[in-house]
Amino acid sequence: MDTNDTSSLTGFGAGKVILLGEHSVVYGYPALAGPLSRGVTAKGEPANKCQLVIPDALMPEQRKVLKAAFARAMAACGEPGVKVSFDTDLPLSMGLGSSGALSVACSRVLLQAAGRKGTASEVAAVAWEMEQEFHGTPSGVDHTTSAMEQLILYRRKPGAEQGRAKVVESPKAVKLVVVMAGARSPTKQTVGALRERQKRWSERYQRIFREIGLLASEGAEAVEEGDLEALGDVMNVNHGLLAALGLSSPGLDDMVHRLRNMGALGAKLTGAGGDGGAVIGLFQDTGPVVHELTRLGIRCFDSQLAGPRAEGTRGAA
Ligand code: MEV
Repeated sequence: MDTNDTSSLTGFGAGKVILLGEHSVVYGYPALAGPLSRGVTAKGEPANKCQLVIPDALMPEQRKVLKAAFARAMAACGEPGVKVSFDTDLPLSMGLGSSGALSVACSRVLLQAAGRKGTASEVAAVAWEMEQEFHGTPSGVDHTTSAMEQLILYRRKPGAEQGRAKVVESPKAVKLVVVMAGARSPTKQTVGALRERQKRWSERYQRIFREIGLLASEGAEAVEEGDLEALGDVMNVNHGLLAALGLSSPGLDDMVHRLRNMGALGAKLTGAGGDGGAVIGLFQDTGPVVHELTRLGIRCFDSQLAGPRAEGTRGAA
């Protein structure tokens, strides 16, 4: 295909889950994160000028932010003549990386329309423009995981332009159940409130961030060694520290305990947390858990983040 042919452009941006290290990653410590098989699909068709179709359902403030974010990506790609629209099968505003996925999907289409190759690092660089507009001071873990589509140990030192990502290979299937546990406050707000607390009591909060960073590195080692029990234990300890930082809620805690009672090797909140959001549980066999939660009317799905996959599958969910 001619790389400037805009007649059939499409780009996928995967949602993400943070297995370990959300929030402390904003302060320069490592986080372990992997891609979901759910995400955002963007499509491009030829047009006189570069533009984004904004869904009618969005509120005025959301439209404004989305427009500004797309303008930055469009400028980074030299404003190719393409009209971009998008669709998603990812639960939105749940801490599952919907804005990072949208940024990656749009960036893939814009880069194709501009006749560029769209390597993972090119895609990540354009998506980063959009993410900064969405989140203010993001660590970059969301869009990097989405662009690389692999389990990664990610770190961005404060002030550094780029984060660094190391792919973490797993000899065993790392399978999660992802549960929606109530509406959540926006990431920007939760991250901002934590920033205020850590400014006031810097030493105490930095101590906890440092410990969470160590947990993320230990978790990556456990994955590489195929030690899922150790990974589960690290997840449990990480949830306790996130709660200590004021990032959990009764709804999230209840779901964490429910998953542990259902046999999870480990369970924790994932993403920004706050009043609600998503909880993840690590299981050897996710099928019966999804079946039971669904029977109880609880929104959930399963996903494999890393390791050998059953033949013919791209991942669960
Ligand atoms: C949000 O998915 C993850 C946070 O750590 C924020 C960030 O890394 O930018 C809460």
